[in-house]
Amino acid sequence: MVPIPRVGPGAEFEPLRIGRTERVFVLTGAGVSAESGVRTFRDAGGAGFAGDGRRPQGGASIGLWYEHRIEDVATAKGFERDPRMVWRFYSERRRQLPSVKPNPAHQALARLAQEREVFLCTQNVDDLHERAGSPEVVHMHGELLRSRCHSCERPSFVDAAGYFEEPPRCRCGGLLRPHVVWFGEIPFHLERIFAALDKCDLFLCVGSSGAVHPAAGFVSHLRHTGRARCIYLGLERPDNAYAFDECRLGKAGELLPGLVDLR
Ligand code: OAD
Repeated sequence: MVPIPRVGPGAEFEPLRIGRTERVFVLTGAGVSAESGVRTFRDAGGAGFAGDGRRPQGGASIGLWYEHRIEDVATAKGFERDPRMVWRFYSERRRQLPSVKPNPAHQALARLAQEREVFLCTQNVDDLHERAGSPEVVHMHGELLRSRCHSCERPSFVDAAGYFEEPPRCRCGGLLRPHVVWFGEIPFHLERIFAALDKCDLFLCVGSSGAVHPAAGFVSHLRHTGRARCIYLGLERPDNAYAFDECRLGKAGELLPGLVDLR
């Protein structure tokens, strides 16, 4: 039996007490960067991609990715078919990144890491947690500002360049690709992530619809061990709400700065 979560406006909840020795696992999703002006992927009804005014009709299919089809710009097949178009797409995202700034949610999480042991895992490919001052950020879906070779084992490297004409090549001759996780690929750092989940006392998930696995399953994984308190913070009830103890609804930038009572 899983208890029913308490779901309600964030203002109705008490501040969260986090003991000095408690280990906190924070999972962030697109919602944490929404108030910085980065678009999220889904709306609450699962009706497709939010924020662009072009939601596909008729339910749960995820059809668009910033006006592009997912299979074109977010799969290895799409990249192999048209690397130039895919690089243009990610180059445009790279070009926009410096104009978005961390918001109070990123800043509150950076402050929390000064006071408590925090493992910060993000599904976001932006660098807003780092720019807000979070000391270590585990990017399970990769990083927009890194590239790697699509053919050889060369490690990923920092790369903020835009490639709008010819796709870049590795010294091995293969194509370079953005260091992001595409659909059908395995997220990064899963071993470290599950080790940290298994040790945590508090699981705090911020701004993630709970629709994309494996991240969406972290909270259920913790339910089986039964040790950690599991709290969700975000605009709307996530798809995996049933597995949380509490879902505090509201904007991350408004809820996070006053969330924690560290006395
Ligand atoms: P989604 O776009 O699926 O969900 C974002 C969530 O944030 C939604 O539930 C919104 O209600 C909520 N939200 C929006 N604005 C908010 C705000 N100001 N404060 C708090 N919450 C807010 O994003 P993710 O769950 O992160 O994967 O998506 C997971 C993955 O799906 C992404 O990492 C990406 C995508 O496909 C890959 O690229 C592999």
